[in-house]
Amino acid sequence: MNRTAIYPGSFDPLTNGHMDIIERGSHLFDRLIVAVGINTEKPGYFSVEERLEDLRVCCAKMPNVEVASFEGLLVEYARSRNSRILLRGLRAISDYDYEFRIALANRRLAAEVETVFLIAREEYSFLASSVVREVAKFGGDYAQFVPENVAKRIENRLKS
Ligand code: COA
Repeated sequence: MNRTAIYPGSFDPLTNGHMDIIERGSHLFDRLIVAVGINTEKPGYFSVEERLEDLRVCCAKMPNVEVASFEGLLVEYARSRNSRILLRGLRAISDYDYEFRIALANRRLAAEVETVFLIAREEYSFLASSVVREVAKFGGDYAQFVPENVAKRIENRLKS
């Protein structure tokens, strides 16, 4: 059986925590599709194109990882890609409530689709895209939290 999993998220911006989940996920499944959810109501810190570009650079060394974007319901996207596995990262118990609700809603919408969780590595358990954005805004060392190309993009944004 060919196992394709989807790792959905906003990735705004992509962090080392996301990369940890992507790398570990790439070893677990035959194919991993990292999918940026397009939220038409939220403009985002970086555009979807910028986020896709950063993901592509960071995932280039992983041949079984594909980078894509989707609009609408996640389970419909999974169906369209012939995937029955949604991958999510769990950082802390506070993520559980939220993830639990979304996973149940997704199961109700598509019973054949399973959500699989990977526990984030301890050093990333506090990390979130909003933390990166805030540290950057107030002049802190954001580069330690993100891949190099993302740090460069944030630097350019701060200069402009
Ligand atoms: N390391 C670091 N940060 C992580 C992380 C990890 N392993 N896992 C999650 N995060 C952070 C993100 O950086 C983000 O941080 P922020 O809120 O501070 O910006 C936060 O956790 C939210 O995670 P994200 O992965 O972006 O998920 P989301 O909750 O924004 O969901 C979609 C994005 C696209 C998956 C979701 O909106 C979706 O599925 N949309 C389609 C509609 C749908 O089908 N909804 C479900 C049915 S109700």
